[in-house]
Order: sequence, then structure tokens, then C-alpha cells
Amino acid sequence: MSKLTRLPAWQALIGHRDSMARTSLRELFAEDRERVERFSSEAAGVYVDYSKNLITGETIALLCALARETDVEARRQAMFAGERINVTENRPVLHVALRERTGAPILVDGEDVAPKVSAVLTKMRRFTDAVRSGVWRGHTGRTITDVVNIGIGGSDLGPRMVCEALRPYGRKALRMHFVSNIDGADIHEVLQSVDPATTLFVVASKTFTTRETLVNAHTAREWFLASGAGVPAIARHFVAVSTNAEAVAAFGIDTANMFEFWDWVGGRYSLWSAIGLPIALYIGMNAFESLLAGAHAMDRHFAETPLERNLPALLALIGIWQTNFLGAASHLIAPYDRYLHRLPAYLQQLDMESNGKTVTLDGERAGYATGPVIWGEPGTNGQHAFFQLLHQGTALIPADFIVCMEPQHPHDVHHDILLANCFAQTEALMNGSPSASEPHRNFDGNRPTNTICLDKLDPASLGALLALYEHKVFVQGAIWGINSFDQWGVELGKRLAVTIEDEIAQPGEVTGHDSSTNSLINRFKARRAT
Ligand code: F6P
Repeated sequence: MSKLTRLPAWQALIGHRDSMARTSLRELFAEDRERVERFSSEAAGVYVDYSKNLITGETIALLCALARETDVEARRQAMFAGERINVTENRPVLHVALRERTGAPILVDGEDVAPKVSAVLTKMRRFTDAVRSGVWRGHTGRTITDVVNIGIGGSDLGPRMVCEALRPYGRKALRMHFVSNIDGADIHEVLQSVDPATTLFVVASKTFTTRETLVNAHTAREWFLASGAGVPAIARHFVAVSTNAEAVAAFGIDTANMFEFWDWVGGRYSLWSAIGLPIALYIGMNAFESLLAGAHAMDRHFAETPLERNLPALLALIGIWQTNFLGAASHLIAPYDRYLHRLPAYLQQLDMESNGKTVTLDGERAGYATGPVIWGEPGTNGQHAFFQLLHQGTALIPADFIVCMEPQHPHDVHHDILLANCFAQTEALMNGSPSASEPHRNFDGNRPTNTICLDKLDPASLGALLALYEHKVFVQGAIWGINSFDQWGVELGKRLAVTIEDEIAQPGEVTGHDSSTNSLINRFKARRAT
């Protein structure tokens, strides 16, 4: 047994799980008319109904006891206080500081970093106002019509997802493009659709060493210069967002055109920093600051609310119940809102890069399940694709249904049908529908869901929703005793790719790998030579 599984609350949860084995959600609802009041709550404009989970008051009490026995509250305090909780990289974890706009000091090693955060926001405001108002122009004097963000992972997924989510708030005259993949088709498609004289490239990389981003940025630079623009024109068309000024300068971008952030902001937690520049260009700085304010409201709720009523903590604890006690291995994100169609991809990085770990903070193998697979697609599309497995498959797949009360389009009939479907799905998954005579029509039910409701998808509510998930991931990592803020797992593949890249470039047969890898490389080399 591990340190975690030996804890009294963990052991009590095992007994509780066994005692719940024959309980159904249908019965729990029938027994308690106030179940939804008991198991729902609202914070920072986000209403969460978590009543359709196989939980009772006792489940929540035991899960909160587990959180206390694993010192979640102390760890939460350590994060907000700027302690170096990212121990393998020896860094604080302070994305919450980026949305702390109250003027309160934010200390990193005794230094108040709040003025630096404000200075970058001011620089972002100046720049985005200039581009949006047409004061900042391309080198031929024409206004900027297209913005191309070049970045990957956290330097892509957040800004891309938010720009999609907040499309109704975006400037129609500014077309946003995102290039992330090293696959040349990605940049090729974008470069074919934009005009060098009216395009602004934002090269976004925390480290400014990421191979994909640097190769894409070089390709963009060559394409730009090939249009006849001289090197001095680069300053009007390329800006950088990074923590690494030296590498930005070495690439050839004037550091006056660089928007800084800091190593205490993790890549997947960085959309609140200057990495949000494309968002601010698209929706304007005031709306970007509303996004920060929404996240800050959720931060205050998370920091100040007892676990029993704390929404991020409750979602995390219910997730632990499902992963570690009920055997769920994945978690579905089902936004019933087309504008949130990139949310599952964003949450995949947030959750899986944070909690996809086997080794605990003590350096031991966990010996229990940690982060689940996160996946999803918007409803109602998913209903006509993979929902069959949710209803009648053998796997238990908890799901978050995310829905907005107010539509962002004039087609009310569509919205009514969309919401009817969302509510019907969670009801069907919970209740099931027994059929003894026709087993293929039998629905067991008892399939857990959360329904997360926003009044309207706007910058503030989106900020709160994203912070809700960030803190959920934090609480789960704290309970599992892992470091949610490093990502060493991606390094090995990166290193091997560099070796193979060299081998592809050199003449001759490759023999240094296993037979499968040798053969794949040699097959490509032979094809490439023809
Ligand atoms: O390879 C993983 C990763 O380091 C992510 O954690 C990060 O978001 C992404 O690559 C991009 O990194 P950077 O912003 O430094 O280019």
C-alpha cells in the first residue's frame, strides 16, 4: 500500500464504495427530493449541478476528509503564497498572480512582481489598441488584417480556444490564424491565405527553443522577406511572446517588440499572460481584462471557500471517487456550445500534461490511478457518434456537460433544441431505462455526469470556467501527491526526434535503433531519395 492508500479516509472510502455497490442514482433521487439543492452550487457566475453522480452526503464528507488528510488546503495556500511547489523545476506556480488585479502585492522570493505584471498588461494594451485602431500599420502603410499566432502546446491551445469561444466579441475585420504543427501543411495553408503586407506574426514560445515553433517562425520570416520586404520591415510584422529575451533577439525580433512573461507561469497555464496577446488583439484589451477578472473571481472562491462548498475541489473530489474507487479511466468534456468546440483539446493539455504522472513527490511509484484520459466533442454531434458507448458500453465514463443559458445567435429554436438534448442526455445517462424483454434496448443508467451552466458565454464567465478546471486539476494532483506543474514525459520523444532528424539528413542506411525503427527510417529515406 502507498502513503495515500493507507490513509484512514481512503480506507473508509473503499468500505463506502462497497456499501454503495447496489445503490442506483435513480433511487437516490427518489429518496431525496432536495438532492439537487444539496448537490449543486454557484460561484463566479458558474453553476454546477453535480447531483447526477453516485454520491451521498457521506461520500462528500469522506472525500473532504481525504483532501484534509492529504493537506490540500495547505498546498493551496502554498501556491497562492508563491512557494516553489513545482519542485522538479524549482519554481513557484503563480498563474493566479496574472489575474490578481486588486493591487495586492505578489511576492516571488520576496520581490513584488505585481508591477511587472501590470507593465506587461499596459504594453499589451498600447500595442493591441494601436493594431486595432490602425495606428500600427504594415511596412507599406496598410492596416493589419490578419494575425498569425505561431506557437504550440500552451502557446497555442489557450489563445486558439479562447479566440474561438469569444468569436462573438471578436473584431470581424481581424482574421485570426493559428499555426502550431511542424507538419508543413499547417503553415502552408495559412501563408496561402494571407498578404505579407497586412499580416502580423506573433511568435509565442515560453522557452523560445521549441523546434516546431522556431521552424514555423523561420518559414514565415523567409516567406515574408521573399515578398520583397526588407529586413527592417520585420519589426512591423513580427512580435514575440516569451520568457527568453536572448533567444528572441537571436531569432531577429527586436526585444522592444517582445511581450514578456515569467518562468513561474506554466505553459498550459499561460493564456492569462502575454501568451494571451492574440486574444487581446481579437477581442480588445478591456474584454481580455474581463477574462482575467472572471478567473480571479473563481480564484477567490477557490482560495476562500471550505472544501464542502468549493466548486473546483468538489469536481476534483468527485473525479477522484470515480477514478480511484469506481474505476473510471477517462473523462468526457461535452460542451453544448459550438463556440467551445476547442475546449476539450485545451483541457486535454491542462489535465493530462499536469496529472499524467506515475511518480509521486516522494519519488515513489504511485501504485494507484492518477490523471484520466480527457476527451470530448461538442453536443449534439457527439450524440450521433460516440454516445452509444456512454449509454450502453461496458466502460464507466463520467462526463461534464457544459451549457450556456443564453445563445449568441438569433436562432432561438435551435437553442431550445440544443438545451433539450443536453438535459435529456444527462437524464437518460442517470436514469437508464430497463428492458428485460429486449436486452438490446436495456439502459442500465447510473452513469455519472456534471452539468456546468453559464448564463452566457462571455469573457468573464469563460475566465471563471477555465479557472474552475485549473483548480480542479490542482486539487487532484495534490491528493495524488504528484507534481502537476512539470512535464518531463514529453522530453524523451523530443530528444529522439533530434537524433532521427540528423539520421534522415545524413546519407546511408540507419542501423542504430531496433529493427522496427531502423526499417521505418530507411523506408522513408529510400522514398525521399527518389
Ligand atoms: O513539449 C511540451 C511543452 O513544453 C508544453 O508544456 C508547452 O506548453 C509547449 O511545449 C510549448 O512550449 P514553449 O511555449 O516553450 O514553446
